[in-house]
Amino acid sequence: MCGIVGAVALRNVVPILLEGLKRLEYRGYDSAGLVVVDDGHLTRVRSTGRVADLTERSATTTGYTGIAHTRWATHGIPSERNAHPHVSKGQIAVVHNGIIENYEVLRSTLTAAGYPFSSDTDTEVIAHLIHRHYARGNSLLVATRAALAELVGAYAIGVIASDCPDQIICARRGSPLLLGVGVAENFIASDVSALLQVTRQIVYLEEGDVVELTHQAYQIYDKQGNQVERAVQTSELSNESVELGLYQHYMQKEIHEQPQALANTLESVCNSQSLVPGIFGAEAAATFADIDSILILACGTSYHAGLVARYWLEDLAGIRCNVEVASEYRYRSSVPNPKQLIVVISQSGETADTQAALNHAKALGQPHTLAICNVPESALVRLSKLRLLTRAGPEIGVASTKAFTTQLAALFLLTLVLAKSRDRLSVRQEQQYLQELRHLPAAAQKVLDLEPLIATLATQFADKQHALFLGRGLHYPIAMEGALKLKEISYIHAEAYPAGELKHGPLALVDKDMPVISIAPNDALLEKLKSNLQEVRARGGELYVFADADTHIHEVDGIHIMQMPEHAGYLSPILHTIPLQLLAYYVALQKGTDVDKPRNLAKSVTVE
Ligand code: M6R
Repeated sequence: MCGIVGAVALRNVVPILLEGLKRLEYRGYDSAGLVVVDDGHLTRVRSTGRVADLTERSATTTGYTGIAHTRWATHGIPSERNAHPHVSKGQIAVVHNGIIENYEVLRSTLTAAGYPFSSDTDTEVIAHLIHRHYARGNSLLVATRAALAELVGAYAIGVIASDCPDQIICARRGSPLLLGVGVAENFIASDVSALLQVTRQIVYLEEGDVVELTHQAYQIYDKQGNQVERAVQTSELSNESVELGLYQHYMQKEIHEQPQALANTLESVCNSQSLVPGIFGAEAAATFADIDSILILACGTSYHAGLVARYWLEDLAGIRCNVEVASEYRYRSSVPNPKQLIVVISQSGETADTQAALNHAKALGQPHTLAICNVPESALVRLSKLRLLTRAGPEIGVASTKAFTTQLAALFLLTLVLAKSRDRLSVRQEQQYLQELRHLPAAAQKVLDLEPLIATLATQFADKQHALFLGRGLHYPIAMEGALKLKEISYIHAEAYPAGELKHGPLALVDKDMPVISIAPNDALLEKLKSNLQEVRARGGELYVFADADTHIHEVDGIHIMQMPEHAGYLSPILHTIPLQLLAYYVALQKGTDVDKPRNLAKSVTVE
């Protein structure tokens, strides 16, 4: 989604802004722009192309203070006139992430007051509002605060003025924003990766904070207007972790990082001899003793992780579990249960629907909350009583890969801890699962060896319009995840079904042009699955089967087998995900799509 970078320094900040935008490209955007204060004027450059295009266009632009933005369209089509920054009367410039809900009313009022609008965005009202207060003789800080008081909605903003050559005002409410502290220079950004080029000293802003920055200092004011201190933290994110290295795409890199990401996520547990609730936080033991059920809330791929976890939690921990898409739950009348543990799952920790669903659950009087998240300082982590951080490292590709498999690993830990706390896990079983978890990174590494085979297989998909994914039990959500990956980056329409549902409708679709991809682990449902596959073959369907050893499914005409190295029992969904990610990746390569930035999608979905 939209990204913000800003800098105030004693040097030309344009290269810093452009590099920051480049590092935010992964979030997804359709236009970009920047504005600097240059000799008492605002110089603005915008583009509907990539940041590389903006870089070319700003070759002669210089300034010591500036703000920049990548826009993902919400109000108004992707176009240069709608790209940020938005400027009021040549004097005030604003970049904004989020959505202003009362912008139509404000737009009418401002139009009547003589402010001409040159875009269709909600953001432009912010620029004009600030200008109106500024023109009355207020400082930029006071004018911004007065404008913010009139806004309904979510925002992270950066503001500069043509006659304030050494000042940025920024603020956040409902959208993330942080400060970067440098030596005689200061920065703002919506994501820490944008600032690693210049500083690792980061201040994470709180809801309602407004900040005044100069090159020498910054003052933070909380939502009541009191000056406050916020801790400066040293970011541990390495530069390499956000760089592509030898890989062709971030998605490929991130698929290959899964063994390490799993090892990192499981590190503390695998190094110990027993599982303790404390890994979820100090209050975990008391919370787990008080709960009678679980409700998992998430979106997209993270929702699929929740669906897998339901099988684990009910089977191993014997605890009732429901999983719901966050955007549905937040608007539905549901029956609250104060003894229910609300688990939110999110890679980014910023997803607006998941955040709203969590707040909704809490407002209904459900105090037990747990976040499984990849970003430690994110809103979801801060809003939850308990947390388990996946340690996947930054995920840049829009298609979620290593975040998903590490979420599964974290959810398996939750299952084991709850099973243990409910006396459903013997010491022997605990040791056996710990051993399987220790082996998981190596097992994932072996699955990656299938890559050349899958790359060849992918050539058979490039001309297909549709694909069907089948799985059963624990692997049905993995079929859903495989279908999501394929449609997201290759634009091939894909659907997933529990294999037993085939004859209740989707079988009608099967013919030689509909590839059917099946996950065939060597588990209790294997024989049932084999019958379902026969139903496909009997209708001339082409089958692509990801099969464990000993499944005795043989490669014959119309059945292509990809042999998985080993069966991983309950952890099998984690391993079976990897070839499906690779398949989607290589089909997308065949089709020449923009793998890391698929059309219309954004990495962090910070708007509804
Ligand atoms: O950051 P989150 O995990 O909350 O994101 C949720 C979805 O937007 C995300 O998983 C999306 O479905 C991915 N692009 C799928 O690859």
